[in-house]
Amino acid sequence: MSEKQQVTRRQFLTYTLMGVGGFMAAGTVMPMLRMAIDPVLQVKAEGDFIATGVKVDELTNEPKRVDYQFEQQDGWYKSTVTQTAWVYKEGDEIIAMSPICKHLGCNVNWNSNPNFPNRFYCPCHGGLYDKDGTNDPKTPPRGPLDRYDYEVKDGILYLSKRAKARGGA
Ligand code: FES
Repeated sequence: MSEKQQVTRRQFLTYTLMGVGGFMAAGTVMPMLRMAIDPVLQVKAEGDFIATGVKVDELTNEPKRVDYQFEQQDGWYKSTVTQTAWVYKEGDEIIAMSPICKHLGCNVNWNSNPNFPNRFYCPCHGGLYDKDGTNDPKTPPRGPLDRYDYEVKDGILYLSKRAKARGGA
């Protein structure tokens, strides 16, 4: 027998199988890892303002329904989101409110119930809000309507993607 260390047939097969197995495992696991981590690593453009196409000059002190859209990336799923706001002017300020009722999430409408003129009315359980979104404490909602942040660029109204809560009871 020589001084050189001999590799037995069993050792050779073991090393070969481990090498091939490791290569195949890496080929399977690495893409999965990348897919799992990739969306987390992407920089999110949160807080972006979206052009609504509404000219600020055309807004009045009467709430107007404004629908606007943007692309949303949720993990690997890309979708088009349509957001709605009730918008009006209060002097130089613009008020942009979410239509989502603070009771159980139905959509409120402005001036839609003849029994409650000039108020936001929720048809689900009779929730009422003043023009500025303040909830009527005698109705089910326990807080005011959320508000969007806004910007004006070249006379066009831009709104935030999400509305912010204003607190409440
Ligand atoms: S969901 Fe609006 S009052 Fe109940």
